[in-house]
Amino acid sequence: MIVKATDEYFALLNRAVAREMEVSAQYMLQHTKMEKLKRKVIKENYLLESTTYDEFGKLLKDFAIEEMKHLAQILERIYLLGGEATTKPDKVVIGNSMREFAELDYKAEEEALELYRQLIEAAKNIGDRETWVLFTKIYSDEEVHLLKFQDYLEMESEPDLGETPDSEWRSIFGEEYIALLNKALASEISAIVQYTTQHEKAEGLERMRRKKIALEVVTGKNKASVVSGVLKETFLQEMEHMEKISERIYEIDRESIATVEPLPEIGNSVEDFIKLDRDAENYAIVLYRKVIAEATKLGDIKTKKLFEDIIQEEEEHYWGFDDFLP
Ligand SMILES: [Fe+2]
Ligand SMILES: [Fe+2]
Ligand SMILES: [Fe+2]
Ligand SMILES: [Fe+2]
Repeated sequence: MIVKATDEYFALLNRAVAREMEVSAQYMLQHTKMEKLKRKVIKENYLLESTTYDEFGKLLKDFAIEEMKHLAQILERIYLLGGEATTKPDKVVIGNSMREFAELDYKAEEEALELYRQLIEAAKNIGDRETWVLFTKIYSDEEVHLLKFQDYLEMESEPDLGETPDSEWRSIFGEEYIALLNKALASEISAIVQYTTQHEKAEGLERMRRKKIALEVVTGKNKASVVSGVLKETFLQEMEHMEKISERIYEIDRESIATVEPLPEIGNSVEDFIKLDRDAENYAIVLYRKVIAEATKLGDIKTKKLFEDIIQEEEEHYWGFDDFLP
């Protein structure tokens, strides 16, 4: 046992997990919405190489990736201390303008700093030095984020967005269809949470294991470490899927909804992980076939093409997991 972590301590760490999951999805989806805002606000934006929208959008994507890294580091710590991580993010709120993004994100960072001050204190109290070091580092990242949003909020607000009426061809994007696309988005978020968490848990399981066979000691490789690597590669691809699907939803001038569905399932052993992950890929493939069928029916060629590309990768993921099963 490294340090004796109490239930309250794990609860505090899990509040950090829920928060990091929320903000990484929030910033990523805001990033995908930028292009839509940019085109709506000032027509001249078309002519510019780079606008505030592009730069702010890039910043949000960078922040989203940083929050993902925080998430991974906190998960790693929880599993090393013998705890169990939550898979339920705090509520994601996206907003409708750059100013709203900045306001929502400023608030999120402020809450993070408050929580992390508590965590740093709690880690110190139980003598958990590594967690203390980790949150001291994360704290300074969040402070940088907060100051960026604050700087933005101190400037003038941007022009109001008017609603543009749909043209005839866009009338195909009805509520049910958008709900289906958001269901796809939700399954990507679910996969990201599941694979990230399992990746960190696999590493934790691996480090706590005492008995090793000679081949593993020599090569430093075994099933857990190989699966852990596969999971990492896979969740990076799911991140891209999530980004592309959300971008498409905003491109057709509709709204992304960040839910997590199905609920991620983590499991307790490497064998569990693989079975659950193959199920998750199966779920995605079945759902995306439906999206492709619907897109074909409506004549939404671009979405059809997007999901045809994604489904190929999901199938590769499926077989990748399947290979590990007996
Ligand atoms: Fe963070
Ligand atoms: Fe942050
Ligand atoms: Fe995916
Ligand atoms: Fe996948």
